[in-house]
Amino acid sequence: MSSAGTAPSLPPGVIVKEHASLPSKQRAIVAAKVARLEKKIFPANEGFDYDVELKKKNIGLLLAFKEGDVVAYLVNQRIKRMVWLHKLCVIEQERQKGIAKCLMHALCQQTGKSGGESIQLWVDEHREPARALYSALGFRQIELRQAYYAPGRAGLKMELAIGM
Ligand SMILES: CC(C)(COP(=O)(O)OP(=O)(O)OC[C@H]1O[C@@H](n2cnc3c(N)ncnc32)[C@H](O)[C@@H]1OP(=O)(O)O)[C@@H](O)C(=O)NCCC(=O)NCCS
Repeated sequence: MSSAGTAPSLPPGVIVKEHASLPSKQRAIVAAKVARLEKKIFPANEGFDYDVELKKKNIGLLLAFKEGDVVAYLVNQRIKRMVWLHKLCVIEQERQKGIAKCLMHALCQQTGKSGGESIQLWVDEHREPARALYSALGFRQIELRQAYYAPGRAGLKMELAIGM
């Protein structure tokens, strides 16, 4: 896992938690907050239905909180020995402080500990910061599909081998 190395540090005041570890009352509030953030940041047709998805046993939601509020989240799904990264998002005012890197590191650790062999994802070719992040972590492009997201918006499939 090229990205594992030393754990990157979170900015001061930011903590990472797994959604499933929160008290049940807080889980619903946080899921609603994540759904709102998602509507703001991703096109409508790419939104996740959190009411449905979070009920699935193989879906994971990693969260970064600052002063009690969600500032970033990462949605993943375990399918046999592979983990799909479905969503990664940091609110605009907290970007470029290393939060996404920390969430990705946490996902790599989780995946490795549970015997997962790779993480895969699709990313819009025009999302430069995300592509730079994944490349810096060692993800390799394994497929390119034209108009994957919409006309003129190709999708790149990327993969990171874990524990190699
Ligand atoms: C992509 C995204 C998650 C990055 O989050 P972030 O917390 O700002 O990223 P980090 O600060 O952890 O940056 C880690 C690395 O990513 C790359 N990176 C992040 N933002 C970048 C930018 N604006 N330009 C170029 N590279 C960037 C760099 O390699 C950086 O490492 P460095 O700081 O050592 O140079 C964030 O920009 C975002 O939420 N974008 C909108 C949603 C999105 O595109 N999600 C991904 C697709 S599902």
